Amino acid sequence: MSEFREISPYELAENPFELIGKDWALVTAKNGDSCNTMTASWGGIGIMWNKPAAFTFIRPQRFTFGLMESEDYYSLSFYDEKYRDALKLCGTKSGRDTDKIAECGFTPEYGEAAPYFKEAKLVLICRKLYAQDMNAESVKDKKTVGGFYGEDDYHKMYISEIVKVLKK
Ligand SMILES: Cc1cc2nc3c(=O)[nH]c(=O)nc-3n(C[C@H](O)[C@H](O)[C@H](O)COP(=O)(O)O)c2cc1C
Repeated sequence: MSEFREISPYELAENPFELIGKDWALVTAKNGDSCNTMTASWGGIGIMWNKPAAFTFIRPQRFTFGLMESEDYYSLSFYDEKYRDALKLCGTKSGRDTDKIAECGFTPEYGEAAPYFKEAKLVLICRKLYAQDMNAESVKDKKTVGGFYGEDDYHKMYISEIVKVLKK
């Protein structure tokens, strides 16, 4: 039996600044049989169009980007501190060159609309509602934002409904 139980997004007690910014997340997506994961520490959770929502930002050069584009669902998953090295690996190596999931010893779970890993402590299954390429023309504060985009590699923003929350 799964160690996870489903909770309502409204039951989440985690501090999003800690959860995403400090603990980091894995963004996991698939296309057919191809599954990949990458670390993310930017993004948010909140409400959009009256729905519990996740806000995810992916640069186009990520291998995960192609998978994000190919399917409607992806997952955000969160881990205990003991997985920090695995999250570092998923944030520095590309699934183009290496099987990060195997290297981290993660166990993929395919029972939901998007894949996630058994080792997670918290999983958000996300369904894309809106996606938009960010661009230089839209930047209001060049001092804060501009420095991140020296190669003009603006993130794509995904606003997604959190359709399921699984917690251990
Ligand atoms: C702590 C941390 C946070 C990151 N946050 C993001 C992010 O929010 N968006 C993004 O596009 N890349 C982010 N990255 C970079 C990707 O995780 C990294 O480029 C990864 O190797 C991409 O893997 P892929 O090519 O297999 O998709 C982050 C990396 C680290 C280490």
